[in-house]
Amino acid sequence: MKNIILIGFMGVGKGTVARAYAAEFDAYAIDTDDLIESMENRKIKDIFKEEGEPYFRALEQKSAKWLSKSVKNSIISTGGGFFKTKSLKKIGIVVLLDSSYDAILKRILEHPNAKRKLAKRPLFQDPKQAKKLYKERSTEYKEVADLIINVEGKTPQQIAKELKKLVTKL
Ligand code: S3P
Repeated sequence: MKNIILIGFMGVGKGTVARAYAAEFDAYAIDTDDLIESMENRKIKDIFKEEGEPYFRALEQKSAKWLSKSVKNSIISTGGGFFKTKSLKKIGIVVLLDSSYDAILKRILEHPNAKRKLAKRPLFQDPKQAKKLYKERSTEYKEVADLIINVEGKTPQQIAKELKKLVTKL
């Protein structure tokens, strides 16, 4: 199986969908933010605070290179900015999980751990700034994606099944 890489905006549910897919189908779920936190032995928010964003982006690039060389049969959820890494297309099939900004914000705020969900995301501290970033990125996401799935109103299991159907057709 070729790897699947899930891209999309913060809070759209990339990690949840990757785990649902791995549970249902024969694949391993990997998350690039988890990988980076393990590499650095500290949290993403601390990497941003202590080293700044360019340092974090270099770590994303390093993990993209590693994934492209070393990983197979996996579904990889990524941080919202990972789609800009150079080796992205070499890793596997790029799938955009697409949703309106309002639905993303609602999804985060309705989560029982909403406070923690927001606190761990340095670029989601101010909803206005986050919306601006969403607007800047939305066409860029679409340009890089091999497949696009609209995820609004769907469960992770439904999205995983839809994804499986789409990749089987490729
Ligand atoms: C980022 C998204 C985050 C994380 C970092 C930067 C971004 O991941 O990688 O805070 O640039 O959009 P999620 O998409 O899982 O929130």
